[in-house]
Amino acid sequence: MTAANQKATLSFSDGSPSVDFPILKGTVGPDVIDIRKLYGSTGKFTFDPGFLSTASCQSSITYIDGDKGELLYRGYPIEQLATKCDFLETCYLLLNGELPNAPQKSDFVARVTQHTMVNEQMHFFLRGFRRDAHPMAVLTGLVGALSAFYPDSMNLNDPHQREISAIRLIAKLPTLVAMAYKYSIGQPFIYPNNDLSYTANFTRMMFATPCEDYKVNDVLVRALDRIFILHADHEQNASTSTVRLCASSGTNPFAAIAAGVACLWGPAHGGANEAALNMLYDIQAQGGVEKIGEFITKVKDKNSSVRLMGFGHRVYKNYDPRAKLMRETCHEVLVALGLENDPLFKLAMALEKIALEDDYFVQRKLYPNVDFYSGIVQKAVGIPVSLFTAIFALARTVGWIAQLNEMITDPEYKIGRPRQLFTGAATRDVPDISAR
Ligand code: SDX
Repeated sequence: MTAANQKATLSFSDGSPSVDFPILKGTVGPDVIDIRKLYGSTGKFTFDPGFLSTASCQSSITYIDGDKGELLYRGYPIEQLATKCDFLETCYLLLNGELPNAPQKSDFVARVTQHTMVNEQMHFFLRGFRRDAHPMAVLTGLVGALSAFYPDSMNLNDPHQREISAIRLIAKLPTLVAMAYKYSIGQPFIYPNNDLSYTANFTRMMFATPCEDYKVNDVLVRALDRIFILHADHEQNASTSTVRLCASSGTNPFAAIAAGVACLWGPAHGGANEAALNMLYDIQAQGGVEKIGEFITKVKDKNSSVRLMGFGHRVYKNYDPRAKLMRETCHEVLVALGLENDPLFKLAMALEKIALEDDYFVQRKLYPNVDFYSGIVQKAVGIPVSLFTAIFALARTVGWIAQLNEMITDPEYKIGRPRQLFTGAATRDVPDISAR
């Protein structure tokens, strides 16, 4: 961050003295007006619910150009990372700022592999849930519960403890997601097999049973590894901002990540992939492609509260680059599985085409986002719809950790404590109950 040689001057129509604020420049992207002294110098707050015009921090991890539809992790375009790297290389990049060389990669993979098991006591937590509990309810509980098992990695201010808790979280999320799935279908948990790659290990924990040897499905592993890369980080989205705000109190890393899991669950955020697939199922059940027009009419009707799930984005006002990669992955997987005529994929492409030609979406710059196609590819490889957001959380855990570490190591960071515009009752006396 550098101070631009410009300033912003705030003047008041009531004759109050005007105030100058420095303008700060990043490497790329919009400049910011540094208003940290605003309240002290004017007695006024800014007002920006939803943070549409607010930069909450400085960061060097992920950059999104919403107008161009570009996404960079530590400067590398997502299109290159998704095709030239695997997920653990991407984790190393997000955490350390550079891609690993071969020895660094094998060390990192070895460290993660050594932490894939969870404490046996964790198994008992699942027994408290109904078998049909939503996996995100289970995962929110399990990730928070990790705080009870690692007293040696609870102190956010100790870089060693931050490092080991990062490894533990990255390593154990696949195990916990697979446990939540096995519990929901009444099958026994499958322990990690450290001979397998990170993502192959996850597929085995998900789909193997003790009754027979499991053959790793390379199409499934490649598709999931790509999905993990595409979901790994995304600057200051709602769940990342939740993790930063939660960790700013100095709480432990497991609790902060559990807060991110809880926020991601929402259908406007990480829950959109589940909602988008259910939306496609509904349209299909009502008649498929011929019913798209009727559905779009409902979406455009303000009174219907129906949204085209998997479309629109606070930052992307162009095609989400992850959606393009997800659509390609979807097509590759469906062809590999002999499902190229999958009716749901055809319906999704028809819906996308119609929406992108409709003025309502064009005017509002609503394009498919990462969630529009991710459900179709996950369904094709056998992931149950209810697990989609848990898989998003598995992938985003590394981004949340990288962002949390960046905040904690920023010498200027403080506990997050926004103010408000108070519109409630002014001071008044409590009347006796007989007078109420
Ligand atoms: C993710 O922030 C991130 O980076 C998130 C994420 C990440 O990687 O972390 O990218 C992951 O959350 C992707 C988004 C997944 N959510 C969905 O697909 C749910 C459907 N999309 C929307 O609910 C919406 O687009 C949001 C929540 C994603 C963004 O909402 P904004 O920026 O607050 O925009 P808005 O709700 O103010 O919408 C602007 C206009 C409104 O119409 P008008 O009032 O101007 O007439 O666009 C309309 C909205 O009604 N609109 C939609 C729409 N999204 C916005 N109309 C129909 N369908 C939609 N999907």
